[in-house]
Amino acid sequence: MAISADVIIAGGGVIGTAIAWRAAAAGLATVVIDPQAGDAAALVAAGMLAPVSESLFGEDALLRLNLLAVARFPSFAAELEEATGRIVGLRREGTLAVAYDPDDHAALARLTGFRRSVGLDAEELDSRACRRLEPFLAPGVRGGVLFAGDWSVDNRRYAAALRVAAQAAGARFLRDRVSAVRVGNDGAAAGVRLADGSEVDGAAVVVAAGCWSAGIDGLPGTVRDAVRPVKGQLLRLRCPANVPPVLGHTIRALVRGTDLYLVPRADGELVVGATSEERGHDVTVTAGAVHDLLHDAMSVLPVTSELALAETCAGLRPGTPDNGPIVGPGGPAGLLVATGHYRNGILLSAVTADAVAACLTGEPPAPEWEPFAPQRFGALARPA
Ligand code: GLY
Repeated sequence: MAISADVIIAGGGVIGTAIAWRAAAAGLATVVIDPQAGDAAALVAAGMLAPVSESLFGEDALLRLNLLAVARFPSFAAELEEATGRIVGLRREGTLAVAYDPDDHAALARLTGFRRSVGLDAEELDSRACRRLEPFLAPGVRGGVLFAGDWSVDNRRYAAALRVAAQAAGARFLRDRVSAVRVGNDGAAAGVRLADGSEVDGAAVVVAAGCWSAGIDGLPGTVRDAVRPVKGQLLRLRCPANVPPVLGHTIRALVRGTDLYLVPRADGELVVGATSEERGHDVTVTAGAVHDLLHDAMSVLPVTSELALAETCAGLRPGTPDNGPIVGPGGPAGLLVATGHYRNGILLSAVTADAVAACLTGEPPAPEWEPFAPQRFGALARPA
């Protein structure tokens, strides 16, 4: 039987599913199409909501968007918990950034100076004060900075709750791959073609397929060229049963010049990440990455060596040339793009859903989105 919908979403990761929830809740007949269930970048992620500790020199527009996102996240998560009866594990203890050696300390001080200069909250702490906050930190840690505005969420619980909420609101999920966006004789999006050649009709198509967006025909070539996979490898460690979690805050560490994060969960899980590798679509977990992550983790948090190594995993962040997401109308009328969320997919999921739902219902998205329109990479006229 031919399928048709008001909105077709290519991609069932956290971005596509968040959009599906809001679109279905707005009364639109919504279909999400994804070939996989359970291996999206969002499931590999650590769930940091980190506008401050992810902010870098020269990324002011992205910082403004990420601050909007973190301000929106609690109400979005609360509504999600209310709609599903599920707990998503939002934690607001803040993030403690620490430095391992003197060079790391100097680098952290430079970044902190920049973050303060743009008005962000950053409390510098000496080594002893860091260990008062987190007693399991190595005594050699040089010092740190508390970023109270950086939180976390249990990304797997969050992603699962989004799917439940989307389905409860009426969204349908198809296990298939979108190979192309179809355009009708009027030049507007008319639906999608699937990998087996079958078609789904829809007046609006949202491409939210992360790094796989680049493989969807009918998207403007400038957008396809802008998205690339950036591999991240992570570890999931686990405290023994009946032992309290070893951390209360997310730790960001600079260890001999390498970035590391350790994200605790209330249930005793500790997520350790992440590599950042340009290796195409390869998702092999390598011995070297596991070694390096554990070695760096044990340098700042020696008790890591006592924890169970519960899982190793690798995912593909959808990177873009300016590290910003690509969200907005994508060329033909009815085609919307919501991809390229790179290191901030979980954080940006709620405001992306708001922005896309606004576009679908004829409202303007928040002004923070203006710098992230698809046409910033070039004209959208020519589908590739
Ligand atoms: N947001 C952290 C990462 O992408 O590794």
